[in-house]
Parts: sequence; structure tokens; C-alpha cells
Amino acid sequence: MWLEAPDIAHRVLPGQFLNVRVSSGLDPLLRRPISVCDVEQNRVRLVFRVVGRGTALLARMRAGDELDVLGPLGRPAPELKGKDVLLCGGGIGTAPLLFLARRLKRGHRVHVLLGARTKAELLLVREFRALVARVAVATDDGSAGFHGMVTELAETQCKVQNAECRTQSGGGRKSGVRSPKSKVHVRPSVVFACGPRPMLADLVKRLDPIPVWGFVEERMGCGTGICYCCALPKRGGGHVRFCEEGPVVRLNEVVL
Ligand SMILES: Cc1cc2nc3c(=O)[nH]c(=O)nc-3n(C[C@H](O)[C@H](O)[C@H](O)COP(=O)(O)OP(=O)(O)OC[C@H]3O[C@@H](n4cnc5c(N)ncnc54)[C@H](O)[C@@H]3O)c2cc1C
Ligand code: FES
Repeated sequence: MWLEAPDIAHRVLPGQFLNVRVSSGLDPLLRRPISVCDVEQNRVRLVFRVVGRGTALLARMRAGDELDVLGPLGRPAPELKGKDVLLCGGGIGTAPLLFLARRLKRGHRVHVLLGARTKAELLLVREFRALVARVAVATDDGSAGFHGMVTELAETQCKVQNAECRTQSGGGRKSGVRSPKSKVHVRPSVVFACGPRPMLADLVKRLDPIPVWGFVEERMGCGTGICYCCALPKRGGGHVRFCEEGPVVRLNEVVL
């Protein structure tokens, strides 16, 4: 969905989201948070999956309809010093990484890994490939790219245990293979990831000690820091409200 929203388009940064009112009445009462997937001049792109009533109502919108949104909300992805950045998206979690890739490609070498259950469920691959050269995909059923989870692919490519690994561009991606020949070694100084919580937890474990920043897309209430229903426990005590201190949080510092 593209929204004509000049005010938001000129201010929003990667990682921020909009809180969208999905009905003109009081039911459903709560707004639905959707990340900004991309920006083009005065327009903002949202990519969402219909999972329940709110998103089903949103999907009924037609060109010319007006939408009530709050935003941009949340803190954007942090500025980076390192050169090599890995973006790792699972399922609908791929969406907000596109805007990030667009911004990062200017000063960084960006590597993108996209995962889904099947080839048909892979999202935005064409758009990512138009932006950055190093894009690889993984599918659980092996119907496209690496056969396995995107977190496995990330571990294989990063080779964090191997001090001799070197950075190469390009790569020999082949459909449905796990062969070492298909590996592209990257040494990211930071990883940004978005996807289901188990995927994020798995990624942190596999890539340790590389810092992993996650776009946390969990259930939210107010979306503005008041209700605490989005709080995640921090390692060592305290909480992070990901609508306020996130949604991009350093995953190594929270309990997923
Ligand atoms: C910061 C943020 C950014 C997000 N960005 C996107 C995006 O770009 N695209 C996208 O498709 N979705 C995104 N989501 C998830 C999206 O907000 C939910 O899918 C949506 O709120 C579900 O509403 P519903 O009324 O359709 O479903 P409901 O009827 O409320 O719920 C249906 C199912 O979705 C689960 N669910 C409900 N709310 C959430 C939630 N907030 N997060 C995760 N699961 C939920 C429920 O547990 C249930 O299983 C984002 C969430 C957050 C917090
Ligand atoms: S959703 Fe209310 S504090 Fe985050």
C-alpha cells in the first residue's frame, strides 16, 4: 500500500513505523503498527500480511481512500561506523529492511539475506536486487536458494568462528543446495534483522559475538510509551518498551 503522506515521507527514517487506524468506528479500538517499508518522494510504502481483523480491514482500502495514521513513531535504526552490514529478513519481516538497505547502500557494503517458507512467500526480492548486489535467499522447503532457515544461511555466510574468512562479492547461489561451493563469506560489523521472535533469538545465538539489531514487531497497545504492554525484559534487569526505545533494539541486550 502506498500512502500519499508528504509530511511523513520527508521525516521518516528506517526502523520507524506508523500506527494505523483500521476502522472509522471504535471497533477495533487499537491502531495497528506497520513499519515503513520504503519512501518515494511524497509517498510512503507499507507492506503487510493479513493475519486478523485489523489487517483484513486495512487490505480493503482502495485508491483514493483516506487513512488515519500516527507517525513516524519509534526510534530509527542507529547510525553505523562499520563498512559491512548484513540485513536478514524472515517472512513479512523483510519489509522494513528495504528502506534501511536504500539508506545504507550509500556508505556501506550491504549484504541481504531473505528467508521464507517457500519460494512463493519470498518478498521484495526484486526490489532488494535492484538496490544492492549481494542478495541471497533461503527457503525452508528448498524451492529457491539455500535449502534451510535464513539463520542457518547467515551463520554459513558469516563464518564467525573462522578467523581466516574473507569478504568476497558475488556468490554462487544455486537452487536448493547446501553445498559449501554456494557460500559467500561476509564479515559484518553489524547485523539488522526482522522476523518472527524465534528467528531473531536463533540469529543472535548463531552470530554471537556480532551485534544484532532487531526490528521487533510484537503486539503493541498505545504505541507511544504509556501502557507498557510492549515491554521486553532486559538482560541484567529492567525493560525496553519497543514502541519507545525500539522498535529497533540491540537483541544481545534483551531476553527474547
Ligand atoms: C513496530 C511494528 C511494526 C510492524 N510492521 C509490520 C509490517 O510492516 N507488516 C506487517 O504485516 N505486520 C507488521 N507488524 C505486525 C502487525 O502490527 C500485526 O500483524 C497486526 O497488528 C495484526 O493485527 P490484526 O488485527 O490483523 O490481527 P489480530 O486479530 O490482532 O491478530 C491476529 C494474529 O496476529 C497476532 N498479532 C496481533 N498483533 C500483533 C502484533 N502487533 N505483532 C505481531 N503479531 C500480532 C495475534 O497474536 C494473532 O495471532 C508490525 C508490528 C509492530 C509492533
Ligand atoms: S505499546 Fe504502549 S508502551 Fe509500548
